[in-house]
Amino acid sequence: MQKISCPRPPSDTLYRHGDRPGPRPADGLDFSVNLNPLGPPETVIEALRRSLGGGPAPPAVARYPDPACRRLAEQLAARHGVAASQVVVGNGSSELLHALPRAFPARRAAVVEPTYTEYLRASLRAGAEVEHWLPDDDAFRPVPFDPAGADLVWLGNPNNPTGWLWPRGRLAEWVGAFPRTLFAVDEAFLPFLPDGHAHSLVPLLNDLPNLVVVRSLTKLHTLPGLRLGYAVTGADRARRLREQLPPWSVNAMAQAAGLAALDDGDFLRATHAWFRETVPAFFDQLRACSPRVRPLPSRASFFLLRLQGVTADELAGRLSQRGVAVRDASNFVGLDRRYVRVAVRRPEENRRLLDELPAACGFA
Ligand SMILES: Cc1ncc(COP(=O)(O)O)c(C=O)c1O
Repeated sequence: MQKISCPRPPSDTLYRHGDRPGPRPADGLDFSVNLNPLGPPETVIEALRRSLGGGPAPPAVARYPDPACRRLAEQLAARHGVAASQVVVGNGSSELLHALPRAFPARRAAVVEPTYTEYLRASLRAGAEVEHWLPDDDAFRPVPFDPAGADLVWLGNPNNPTGWLWPRGRLAEWVGAFPRTLFAVDEAFLPFLPDGHAHSLVPLLNDLPNLVVVRSLTKLHTLPGLRLGYAVTGADRARRLREQLPPWSVNAMAQAAGLAALDDGDFLRATHAWFRETVPAFFDQLRACSPRVRPLPSRASFFLLRLQGVTADELAGRLSQRGVAVRDASNFVGLDRRYVRVAVRRPEENRRLLDELPAACGFA
């Protein structure tokens, strides 16, 4: 691992995400955001309809929501085998990522790059200095390192955009070896994996008091417009994190949707079946589709592609003219114009990207 300096580009480019507001072509396909292509589940849509009312009870939007999200926190706690007091529900995991360095002020934060840029932004906003640590190998596989006095370490597991998944024992050992450093582990994409529970650090929380795990419901259940996420940590840390949130930050519909989502075992099983079949198949297809495109190995539902002979903005621009959006990944710290990220979608949708890629690479 090496510490790299990050010349800060203008914040509007550094913090650019995949999905942008604005009109889309009617038949456009968006591979730029890592969302579950099977969602949102019908059960969640139904719960949202119900919460709009129509029966004798006033609609949920006409009342203040439970500011403590008690029912949802209890359900989440039961899923994870922890106490409800250890769960903090937020308006998307982003709200919690930003609350975290305010709740646990850090003088210095270390970010395992290349990764989700909000860790950087949250740290800077809370007044921390940020150090960027980049793996030495060209597939961006990180190894544990001495955070050298950083009070906070951020990492994604699996990581966005590389799809790197830490071996659980190794990661736990690393967290345990630096008890004075708080580790923020973002498991937003872990529930997509059929064996995700076997990789989660949540069951190890009791042995690791310097750990906060952040998870998202918006990715797995395709609810980015609704916003829902949560953090799991020790009860005392959870209380401090909760104190940073404005009251009622999680609206009533999001709470209802979350409860319905947790109940929908069929949707989870369908997602895992899709993941098992489609993710490895798409990797092989991407590898075979053009010599100018190299997908990096990933354990997540998205791939970082290394390009040759075409730049990320050229490729993204050409694909966009054909109604296909991919994520130009050149603004991730540690990456450059050789990288784009694509999400895995349904097989027939993936086929469309595979059909367009060779010509868009300028190499039909
Ligand atoms: C790694 C990672 N964590 C968290 C988030 C935020 O998700 P949300 O705030 O919708 O829960 C994202 C969104 O792109 C992400 O990529």
